[in-house]
Amino acid sequence: MKAEAVKLIHGGDLQSAAMRYGIELEEWIDLSTGINPCAYPIPKLNEICFQQLPYLSTEFKKAVTFYYGSDRFAACSGSQQVIELLPKLLPKLPVLLPSLGYQEHSESWINACENERDIHFYPATDQDVAIERIEFQLEQGEPFHLVVINPNNPTGLSFSVAQLFDWSSRLAEGGFLIVDEAFIDLHPEQSVLSHYDEFHTVDNLVVMRSFGKFFGLAGLRLGFLFGPEVVLQAVHNRIGIWSINGPAQAVAIDAFNNRTWQMNNRVNIRLNSERTLTLFSPLLKRIEAKMQGTSLLFSSWWVESEQLEQMYDFFAQRGVLLRVIEEGVALNKPSDLSLLRLGIIDAKNESIVLKLQQVIDEFILTFD
Ligand SMILES: Cc1ncc(COP(=O)(O)O)c(C=O)c1O
Repeated sequence: MKAEAVKLIHGGDLQSAAMRYGIELEEWIDLSTGINPCAYPIPKLNEICFQQLPYLSTEFKKAVTFYYGSDRFAACSGSQQVIELLPKLLPKLPVLLPSLGYQEHSESWINACENERDIHFYPATDQDVAIERIEFQLEQGEPFHLVVINPNNPTGLSFSVAQLFDWSSRLAEGGFLIVDEAFIDLHPEQSVLSHYDEFHTVDNLVVMRSFGKFFGLAGLRLGFLFGPEVVLQAVHNRIGIWSINGPAQAVAIDAFNNRTWQMNNRVNIRLNSERTLTLFSPLLKRIEAKMQGTSLLFSSWWVESEQLEQMYDFFAQRGVLLRVIEEGVALNKPSDLSLLRLGIIDAKNESIVLKLQQVIDEFILTFD
C-alpha cells in the first residue's frame, strides 16, 4: 500500500515541527541543518553594546580581518541578506547556478530576473559534469554571472581556489563570479580569501561567508560579503549603517579572536560527524543509501523516495527532525530517489546519543 505523502518541514524549523508532531521544542534532536550543535559560548557582554548605536567598531573590523584574512568586506545580517540583494545590485545579465544547492540563490535570481530564459543551471552532483557545463558556457564568450556554493550544500561538491580564479578571469566583461563559502570554515585554506594578493586584484569576484554555521550561532544573524569596493558600497547603501547590532559585534569579536576554540572546534566537529555517521551507518546500509557528499557539518544521501518519506515521519514522531531535500532536485535526480541531508549531533551529550540510537534501532526493527 502506498503511504500517504508526508508534508516536509524546512531545515531548522523546529517551531513547525513542534506544532505538527506535538513535541515540546526543547525535546527535539535537530539533524535538519548544517549548524554546529556545539555553539561558541556567549561571553559576558558589556551593557554598553546594548545601549549605544551599533556603528561598526574598529575592534570588530580588526577581528573580521584577522579571521577572514581580508578587510574588503560588508557585514550583513547573515549571508542570506546578500544572497537576496546581489541579483538586484549586479549588472542585469544571465546567470548560471547550481541546479541543486542552497535554494535561496536561485529564488533570489528568479525574483530579480525579468526574463526566466536568463536563468541557467549546471548539474551539481558530479564535479566533472559541473565543470564541463560551466566551461561550455564560458566558451560561448557571452557575459553572465556564475554562482558557486563551495562546498555545495547539500551535494558536497567543491572546486579548487585555482579553478575559481581561472573562471573569474575568463568571465566576459560585466560577469561576476559569486562564491558562497558558508561551509568553508572547516577548511579555511580552501577559501578564496586565503589568497589575499590574488583576491585583491580581481574585480569581478565576490565571496560570502556565514558566521552562523561554524560558530553555531545562526540566530545572531551575521554574515559577510567580500569583494570589490563598488559592490560593497552598493550593499552598504542598501542595508544602512546599523545593520549589525552591538551584541552581535561583541560576540563576533570574541569568537574571531579565539583561535584555541576554533582549533578545538574543528577537531570536535570531525568527531561529532564521525560519531553521527557511525550511529546511522547500520540504518543507511539497510536502506541502501548512497552517499552524495559531505562537508563534515552535514552529509547527504540518496535514498528511495517513499522509504525516505516514511523514515522522515517515523523520526519526527519521536522528536528527531531530518531534512529531505526536494526543491531543485529534478535536474539531478536519479529516478525515484530523494536526498537525505543529515546534520551532526553533539556526541558528548549522552542522552542525545542514547535517544538517537534508540530511534535508529526502532526504525531498523520495522524491516523485520
Ligand atoms: C550554502 C548556504 N549559504 C548561505 C546560507 C545562509 O546562512 P546565513 O544567512 O545564516 O549566513 C545557508 C543557510 O543554510 C547555506 O546553506
